[in-house]
Amino acid sequence: MTEKRRILTGDRPTGKLHLGHFVGSLQYRLAFQEEYECFFIIADLHMLTTKPSKEDIAQIGENAREIVLDHLAIGIDPTKTSFYLQSAVHEIYEMHLILSGMVTVERLQQLPTIKDMAAAAELEQMPYNLLGYPVLQAADILMPRAHLVPVGKDNESHIEISRQIARRFNNAYSEVFPLPDAYIVGGTLVGTDGQAKMSKSLGNAILLSDDSASVRKRVMSMYTDPNRIRADIPGTVEGNPVFNYHDTFNPNKEEVEDLKSRYRQGAVGDVEVKTKLYNALENFLEPIRERRAYYAEQTGYTDQLIYEGTQRAQAEARQTLMEMKKAMGLTGVWNRIRRSNERRQKRLAKA
Ligand code: TRP
Repeated sequence: MTEKRRILTGDRPTGKLHLGHFVGSLQYRLAFQEEYECFFIIADLHMLTTKPSKEDIAQIGENAREIVLDHLAIGIDPTKTSFYLQSAVHEIYEMHLILSGMVTVERLQQLPTIKDMAAAAELEQMPYNLLGYPVLQAADILMPRAHLVPVGKDNESHIEISRQIARRFNNAYSEVFPLPDAYIVGGTLVGTDGQAKMSKSLGNAILLSDDSASVRKRVMSMYTDPNRIRADIPGTVEGNPVFNYHDTFNPNKEEVEDLKSRYRQGAVGDVEVKTKLYNALENFLEPIRERRAYYAEQTGYTDQLIYEGTQRAQAEARQTLMEMKKAMGLTGVWNRIRRSNERRQKRLAKA
């Protein structure tokens, strides 16, 4: 049997996942799991670049468990994906240092993503680890020697840096790494309030783990065409979040077309449009909730998965780091010193 090609992707453990995550990344993880061997990183060291407080760190464990549950709930098969905790794989820290010589400070300083993250976290000065965010990400990706990295558009430049780092390493020493390809996953889901992006911190998210009552509340108060103050006024469908969600989550295209045409004519009330959206979302979320409940019931199961996945990652990381050090000649330096010392100790023991 030929070995499967590998995928590496993951998230920072900052909270439970929502419909925006599903549209933007989870659905692709699901689609890829048959064809690839998947590594899923819980990137807590990356989280530390903008959230380093003790309180933030205290949340990592719970958030990691919830993220794994979210993945199982949408149908990720735990026999096909290794979930692992980045901070527990110390080889990643070592790889990061070695790889940091393969990229310039100027190159990193030019990345808009890093500046944006610093601004979002209201940092006045650039911390060293935040500047090195893409180098750490390169260590993540090169650790299992991943071929494909499904990420959002916002991470594209980081994968480009990973490729550059891999190329430089291979050229300088020897071919240790396949060049990782980015697979840019599309689609951003607008927030329920009409803001450009769904985000838990903006309070405009529907979580995969929300119960029916919360979903209903969010949907019924969704932002829609603000000019349509009465049901008999013609409304705008394009760019209207309610219809955007219908297009994404309502598989009954006939119903959606009917609602759209009546909305344009001013012949449907918001309540009907939203109730039908609520029903569609419930149909989408119900099986997800059921699987979540099934796995959540098995006490300690997510911890077991993270534990086993991390052990798997550690074994992989040991192998990769050893090959890197061998390729560089570092292993040889140490081995000579070690063997020379062994011989000396023997001589001393004899004398
Ligand atoms: N940078 C990703 C984010 O935006 C998280 C991440 C860390 C990641 N390491 C990775 C994604 C490796 C893909 C591959 O949250």
